Amino acid sequence: MALINDWIYYSLAEVDSTNDAIKKYCENSGKKIVLSAQKQTAGRGRRGRNWCSLNGNLFFSMAFEYDIREAGKLSFISSLSLLQALKSLSPVADILLKWPNDVLLNQAKVSGILLEKGNGAYIIIGIGVNIARSPQLQDSVYKTVSLADAAVKSTPAEVLSLFMKHFLQNLSLLQTKGFAVLRDEWLKYAKNLGQEIIVRQNGKTEKGIFEGIDEDAALLLKTSAGQKRILAGDIFFDEIKENE
Ligand code: BTN
Repeated sequence: MALINDWIYYSLAEVDSTNDAIKKYCENSGKKIVLSAQKQTAGRGRRGRNWCSLNGNLFFSMAFEYDIREAGKLSFISSLSLLQALKSLSPVADILLKWPNDVLLNQAKVSGILLEKGNGAYIIIGIGVNIARSPQLQDSVYKTVSLADAAVKSTPAEVLSLFMKHFLQNLSLLQTKGFAVLRDEWLKYAKNLGQEIIVRQNGKTEKGIFEGIDEDAALLLKTSAGQKRILAGDIFFDEIKENE
């Protein structure tokens, strides 16, 4: 056990999922915990998907007590913090954000963020970053990339440390200044802002113009039927192929 600022940090060799492993450290209230693992045998992704956890990549979770109604905002500041961490490693790299919380490197997915409710008032934010390798997913809805693929040299420990630095700054900004400042920062890096996107929700797709994000972190989509608030779903920038 070590400390990252005032967060208790556990670095483990192998777990099923860091989002599950961290729960046993959250039995008493009032703790702030970070847990990383070198190997993850049953990594989980959004919407019941698996997260392909290749050795050499970063897998970690944070657990802390927070108002669950603010979960959407935490997911935004997590992706923004990761973008800032990666930009500090490679200021010139093509790094963008994709709603709700993906970080894209060279237009492909380099990380995944899974936010879940823990016991009591605990919120768990689990993050995977492709550092050394990217999974070759046959029937995936997205392309994947690793830092190594993009010639960005780093290690899981370095990315975790840079992420925590930015995340703690952003969390403090959220609490003192509110979401608007962070949302504006997030939007600076949003892919296809003001342009057409395709939103898929519950198997249905809809095209529209990505107009922004509201104060509750919902995506604002201008459609022929007027502006819609999208609270959950996947977005695409090109026509979706049959197997997606
Ligand atoms: C996504 O589908 O994009 C989210 C993927 C989240 C993966 C990370 S890896 C660390 C943490 N533990 C898990 O089981 N999932 C998250």
